[in-house]
Amino acid sequence: MASDQLSVLVTGAGGQLAQCIQKLQPDFDYAFYFKDRKALNITDAASINSALDKLKPDVIINTAAYTQVDLAETETEQAFNINHLGVANLAARCAERVIKLIHISTDYVFDGKLDRPYLETDPTKPQTAYGKSKLAGEHSILEAKLPAFWILRTAWLYSIYGKNFYKTILNLAQSRDELSVVNDQTGAPTQALDLARFILENLPKLNKQNSGIYHYVNSGQATWFDFAKAIIAENGLMTSVIPVASSQYPTAARRPEYSVLANSKIQETFNFSIRHWSEALPGQARV
Ligand SMILES: NC(=O)c1ccc[n+]([C@@H]2O[C@H](COP(=O)([O-])OP(=O)(O)OC[C@H]3O[C@@H](n4cnc5c(N)ncnc54)[C@H](OP(=O)(O)O)[C@@H]3O)[C@@H](O)[C@H]2O)c1
Repeated sequence: MASDQLSVLVTGAGGQLAQCIQKLQPDFDYAFYFKDRKALNITDAASINSALDKLKPDVIINTAAYTQVDLAETETEQAFNINHLGVANLAARCAERVIKLIHISTDYVFDGKLDRPYLETDPTKPQTAYGKSKLAGEHSILEAKLPAFWILRTAWLYSIYGKNFYKTILNLAQSRDELSVVNDQTGAPTQALDLARFILENLPKLNKQNSGIYHYVNSGQATWFDFAKAIIAENGLMTSVIPVASSQYPTAARRPEYSVLANSKIQETFNFSIRHWSEALPGQARV
């Protein structure tokens, strides 16, 4: 390994975003280490220390999280344990060892009541246990004396990996003639592979000056109904999609009505352009 090669540790390696990062690994000349929950549990200081002693990464990409939004309403302690204490733990170890940290957060830190895209500077007001636990995680990163960090808030992630809306709709549409999908929640469908590529391409630029919170979502906005229609159309399926109100599908955690994140800060800071969500759809060739 060349001595100037960056070493990058990815936590939560079994998850959706981590698998996207892993897929892109051959395109980047970094020394990569992917650790799943068994190999590196962010709630366990000894587990973090032993991994860091061995791997000595320059940068950690923390994709590890408790992501079950509805279950978090009842498993609140577990959600906080991972999304707050686990993240605080990781951030403290990074600060001690002068390791840069890229952490992923969510649109759920906002209340979802605005009628224009949320800026990084807008006040946070999470409405769910999951959102509160993720916000607490953000705060612990801001408080840790890290050499450099990015908190990347994203939303509506999908890919060929894990469980996500794209895959659910595709599976259902293959076996049904008609699907009902909510049309009163608006967000920005985001290709997880696009976010993974942004992170890997820009990671060498992470420094103290550009440390902070950024929003990364694909451009444009859609309701779940719009997104479902697009998924069905691009896969050449004939399933009809019926728009319905979310009141017909009550969930334990209330979903935000409007949670589009403004992505201009990240585009201006890193001088690139984020494509529209409809252009980011994987197509029949898959991602
Ligand atoms: N998916 C979305 O739509 C979305 C939207 C906004 C923000 N985000 C954020 O984006 C990030 C990545 O999301 P994702 O979709 O890739 O989530 P994901 O597929 O659920 O992956 C999260 C991974 O973290 C692991 N994990 C949980 N607790 C851990 C611990 N204590 N130590 C180490 N690993 C642990 C999980 O392992 P187990 O499988 O063993 O639990 C899982 O493999 C998360 O921070 C999430 O909050 C996601």
